[in-house]
This record gives sequence, C-alpha cells and structure tokens, in this order.
Amino acid sequence: MADLKPPRGTRDILPPESERFAAVERAAADIFERAGYRRIITPMFEDTGIFERSIGEATDIVTKEMYTFTDRSGNSLTLRPEGTAPVMRAIVSNALWQQGLPIKLYYSAAMFRYERPQKGRFRQHHQLGIEAVGAEDPALDAEVIEVGWQALQAAGVGEATLLLNSMGHPECRAGYLPALREFLAAHRDGLDADCKRRMESNPLRVFDCKVPQDQAILTDAPMLEQFLCDACREHFVAVQQHLRDAGLSFQSAPRLVRGFDYYTRTTFEYQSAALEAAQNALGGGGRYDGLMEQLGGPALPGIGFGLGVDRMLLAQEEAKTIVQAFALVSYVIPLTHEEYQLAARVAKRLREKGNTEVEFSQRKLSDALARASKKGARTAVIIGPSERDGGFATLKDLTTGDQHSVPLDDLPARVGEILNS
Ligand code: HAM
Repeated sequence: MADLKPPRGTRDILPPESERFAAVERAAADIFERAGYRRIITPMFEDTGIFERSIGEATDIVTKEMYTFTDRSGNSLTLRPEGTAPVMRAIVSNALWQQGLPIKLYYSAAMFRYERPQKGRFRQHHQLGIEAVGAEDPALDAEVIEVGWQALQAAGVGEATLLLNSMGHPECRAGYLPALREFLAAHRDGLDADCKRRMESNPLRVFDCKVPQDQAILTDAPMLEQFLCDACREHFVAVQQHLRDAGLSFQSAPRLVRGFDYYTRTTFEYQSAALEAAQNALGGGGRYDGLMEQLGGPALPGIGFGLGVDRMLLAQEEAKTIVQAFALVSYVIPLTHEEYQLAARVAKRLREKGNTEVEFSQRKLSDALARASKKGARTAVIIGPSERDGGFATLKDLTTGDQHSVPLDDLPARVGEILNS
C-alpha cells in the first residue's frame, strides 16, 4: 500500500494554520498592490536551463537541490526552486517592458528544493515575492526593502532585523576574488571538504558554508565592501540614506552573500529574533542587474525579494503573535430532520454577518451546543418543531449564556448586536 504520509520535507497545512497562511498571503498581497505591484502566475516548472543559467551552476541549489526530471518528450524540466528566474523568463517571453518601466510584479507560490528537512526548512515551501524591473535608482531599492518590511509587520511576525550588504557589480567582484582566493589558499588546510570544493568552483560561495570552524576562519577574510567601485559604493550609500529617511533601521552585513550568483549591488535579509539561527531568515532579496540580459532579454536592471511563508507562520508561533484568523459567528442547530431545510435557509441569511455553520449530525442539543462552543462560535441558533411552526428561533449568546426567542427575520440584526456587544 502507498505511504499515506506526505513526502519527506513536505507537510499538510491544516486549519487553523492554513487560515493563518491565507491571512498572511492576503495581508502581503494588499501591501504589494498598494505599492503598485501586480500579480503574476508562472508555471510550477520551467526548462532546467532557466535555473542553471540564472541561479548559477556552482550554487548549492543547482548542484544539490533541484527537482529535475525528464518528461516523455525528453525535455529536462525543473520544479521551480525560486521565483525570480521564472518571472524574468516571463518578462522576456511576453516582452512586458513594452508596457512601460519599471515592471512591478508579485507572486505567491510554492518552491521546491531538495534540502535536509528540519524545523523551518522544507522541500516544498511557499514564498511571497516582488520583483521591480527596469530602474536602478537607489530609491527603488529602499522602496522594495520597505515593502518587504511592511508585509512582515502586517503578518505579525514579531521582532525582526534587516541586514544589508552590497555585492557590487561583476567588475568589482573581479577585483575582489583574487584577494579572497589568496586568503582561502593560505587557510586551505583548516577548511572542510565542502568549503574546499566551493573554494575551487565559486569562491564567494564559501560564505554559505555552515561549518562553524569554516566560519571562524572566514571572519578574517577580505571583504567585498573594500573592493566596491565608486559607482557601486555611491549606490550603496544612497540606499542606506533612503532607508534612514524612511525610518527603517538596518545592520550592515558584509558577509551576506546569499545563495544565488545573479545578485549585484544591494542584497538584504530579514531575520527573525524568534527563530533559531539556521532558519531565522524570514525573507531575503537583492538586485540582479545582469540577469535579464543573461537570460536573453534586454539589459534591464531589477530588484526583488522573497518572503518565506512557512517561516513567517513559525515566527508567529514562537513570538506568540498568533491571531485567530477564522471565527464562527453562528452555529445553527436543527433539532430534527424536519428543520434541516429551514436551518439551511436561516444559515444562508446569517452568513451576511459572518461564518455560519449548520449542525448536520443530529446530536443531542447539549452535545451540539458543546460542539458549537468547541468550534469557538459566538452564537447558537436553535430551531426545533415549535420554533419552526412559530417562525422563530432560539438565539443563544455562547459567551454570556443568555438566550431569547427571536423572529426568523430579525435574526441577522440580533446576531449583529451580539457581535457588537
Ligand atoms: P531565498 O533567500 O532563497 O531567496 O528564499 C527566500 C525566503 O524563502 C527565505 O528567506 C526563507 O524564508 C524561505 N525559504 C527558502 N528556502 C526555504 C526552505 N527550504 N524551507 C522553508 N523556507 C524557505 C530567493 O528565493 C530569491 N528568489 C529571492 C529574491 C527575489 N531575490 C530577488 N528577488
């Protein structure tokens, strides 16, 4: 028999967590739309080359984490591990720049990475992200960073820190990499095998190493910051000034390289104070000024971020900021089969006031009331044979225990009064 558990690293998100998930998604979408971002929905899988060419052949994601498969026509396809490359691909294939710049898009989508599952780290996770393409003004960087911050605040994730860095442009990195290589070569013996591999294939990726002993060695490594060209340095200074003007505090994080090769200039991460260090990134992003061209499109700069919904939900739990996203206003209880139809009609009207459910299990009244309370209903509406014949119902306030006979037509108004009381 098939294994009935969800595949390793995936999970079923059940009520009430699923309702918090939906509330987070709504709150973020509202913030994104108010800032002029419009929703884009791209396929869940893409041609494998899209990810290899954009994320980078030597990154952990491309070398170890992609869900790649060959379809029946022999095409190599990959379930999207991230949202930026597919959005760039969609902009190019639909020539979206023709509608004016910058192109401002957002997404809410599942991502797939073959990672070692642990708390806050899944093989399927969900991201809310924005991408702004076609402008390189530092004020746009600040706007994007602030929109992400606002979305996290609206979702109620508790205390968070904004980390900021600049990766410079490829030219700045070309000056930096020999210095980094020289440092790594001098410390080669102290590095673990994985870090040595990174050192050969793509030295910047050594900063992604998780081994504490490697991290200790890297504290003395030369920093990219010292190699930024004048234009990149000025851009970075201006981003910081705009953030200060917006009242957003941030910490400089010169070792924040992030796990993608497409980043240039501004990179940032939002870290939760409530989550453990290995999974405390609630979201992250940055500029990717060469990516569109690399994918065969026009040379348009871009910047964006992705927020991890699974981690936002976890942060709500750890920071104890959970707000109940689903509330039952009324629980309608027909006492016999004869009242089912009337109960359904009454419920339909009460739904004007909020979530309303009908009891369909023919429990004893006391059991039905206990169930209504367990479900957190604010009121119970009881309809038995005498109520049906008389055209009224018994309305019970489940908080105070008060109950009254109420004509059926008056029920929505009376329920409304209880809600406001
Ligand atoms: P990322 O940092 O790889 O960036 O992912 C964004 C966020 O998704 C992370 O900060 C984290 O909250 C969440 N996340 C990532 N992997 C997992 C996982 N295995 N389990 C749970 N949550 C996870 C990107 O993907 C970039 N595309 C963001 C971006 C957009 N940069 C520019 N535009």
